[in-house]
Amino acid sequence: MVVKEESSCVYKNGDAPVEARVKDLLSRMTLPEKIGQMTQIERRVASHAAFTDFFIGSVLNAGGSVPFEDAKSSDWADMIDGFQRSALASRLGIPIIYGTDAVHGNNNVYGATVFPHNIGLGATRDADLVRRIGAATALEVRASGVHWAFAPCVAVLRDPRWGRCYESYGEDPGLVCEMTSLVSGLQGVPPEEHLNGYPFVAGRNNVVACVKHFVGDGGTDKGVNEGNTIASYEDLEKIHIPPYLKCLAQGVSTVMASYSSWNGTRLHADRFLLTEVLKEKLGFKGFLVSDWEGLDRLSEPQGSNYRYCIKTAVNAGIDMVMVPFKYEQFIHDMTDLVESGEISMARVNDAVERILRVKFVAGLFEYPLTDRSLLPTVGCKEHRELAQEAVRKSLVLLKNGKNADKPFLPLDRNAKRILVTGSHADDLGYQCGGWTKTWFGLSGRITIGTTLLDAIKESVGDKTEVIYEKTPSKETLASSEGFSYAVVVVGEPPYAETMGDNSELIIPFNGSDIVTAVAGIIPTLVILISGRPVVLEPTVLEKTEALVAAWLPGTEGQGMADVIFGDYDFQGKLPVSWFKRVEHLPLDAHANSYDPLFPFGFGLTSKPV
Ligand code: GLC
Repeated sequence: MVVKEESSCVYKNGDAPVEARVKDLLSRMTLPEKIGQMTQIERRVASHAAFTDFFIGSVLNAGGSVPFEDAKSSDWADMIDGFQRSALASRLGIPIIYGTDAVHGNNNVYGATVFPHNIGLGATRDADLVRRIGAATALEVRASGVHWAFAPCVAVLRDPRWGRCYESYGEDPGLVCEMTSLVSGLQGVPPEEHLNGYPFVAGRNNVVACVKHFVGDGGTDKGVNEGNTIASYEDLEKIHIPPYLKCLAQGVSTVMASYSSWNGTRLHADRFLLTEVLKEKLGFKGFLVSDWEGLDRLSEPQGSNYRYCIKTAVNAGIDMVMVPFKYEQFIHDMTDLVESGEISMARVNDAVERILRVKFVAGLFEYPLTDRSLLPTVGCKEHRELAQEAVRKSLVLLKNGKNADKPFLPLDRNAKRILVTGSHADDLGYQCGGWTKTWFGLSGRITIGTTLLDAIKESVGDKTEVIYEKTPSKETLASSEGFSYAVVVVGEPPYAETMGDNSELIIPFNGSDIVTAVAGIIPTLVILISGRPVVLEPTVLEKTEALVAAWLPGTEGQGMADVIFGDYDFQGKLPVSWFKRVEHLPLDAHANSYDPLFPFGFGLTSKPV
């Protein structure tokens, strides 16, 4: 009697223990199939042959790499399910895991809910809110066919000159630890008895999370992106490692290595931190993925000695390589390194075991294709209301009235005539910031959402005249007496990563001059849309009646109007110290020299004291 292949295939039995499935499948795999699982490629090179001939185990999209302009979730699901069907056609039928930078909602996808960036969530101090955002994001991500979100970034921000400030929840390790609740939102809450460090994904409405970038990415010297974090191991343990402990306790399934260096050694090459600390000491049992071309940066010029880069990084502890284009070269060199013994079979098996473990835990073998019933969750009312709540709670009130006993906020929604002006008053793209629709972000009506101007018009009485000018005209400024008050909205244009490194931090687009010009003649509320603290000139501070840090609020601008008109109080607290001058950076809240303009944790409420 022929025993049916399936019945002896433990790995295909969804009721079998995960570790038994891992062991069984690994024992059936050839070296090419194992190396294929360690290879992650970008969607643009994901041909059918990549899966059937090279056994590729993972695909991602770069920020802005979309099926086509304004592709909807269903278009994404069609694309990813296409890749999946190719993978399932391979000899062992191992499903791919598809990852994307869903870092503030499913931000690549047109019509998705775009939540405030992490810096604003840090200002809320609300861990349960962040968990709920994770759960909502997971639904919208799965609706698009994606299994894996490269979030949360748990960088502990030490210098606002860093181009990735807004991806951090703040400067304080304790605050960042609290905000790691995103992991439980994205993956689901593990049961009490869950083994620390073992991956956990509750079900089809959840995604695999990826805590990043291990470790010390927010602590580089002068905030230089991908720079060097000069610190003792004790400082790493005190400042940069604690959020990872919290994520491991929540069963985070993957970790992404940092481009940055620790005391001169690139993290992607640091076996002590990647293997001895993260895997052996802290007990991480998921898999470690490189950053985009993170291996290439190990040689100068970049990628010149790729074989050396692979050997160094894989032996240091990288399990999956985000190649992401030259995968045939990667597979060739990797195969050569294993056959020559420079990378041991034990190291390959460890990496593949970890990858398979996450795929089994995530249910990808049972549910490899998209659950289309999730599509109605994309940009749904509940998620937009959640994002609106997050915007409200993220706003930090820095000044309210030139005289403390005469608060300027809340604004009179029935005022006769108000001026709304500034580069950021009516720009959804600016409101969302980087990692939205494209890598660096965009200007304009980039998706479905509400600008602050839209929200103000919706919120004021029907007898209130709202005058909007992106840049206040001379005529308007000359007829200033006709305005009850002005709302001036200025800030930073979108940016990402190294493009965002900035050592001046002045408000772009002549923001300070516009504020000073308007506030000098009309009672003015200034709202700052920025990924970090920026220089506040003395005239800005003196002349404005009120000043609000709104960070990068995302698509639900109504949340700002809710608070400035008094439907809700301000409750946000600074997640990062607000410096006086860039020459004083970096600030250290625990140093005697600490002399901020507004200290970490500062934030007024709008109820009269
Ligand atoms: C980027 C970022 C990382 C992101 C990855 C994939 O360069 O450093 O945060 O997840 O590449 O887009």
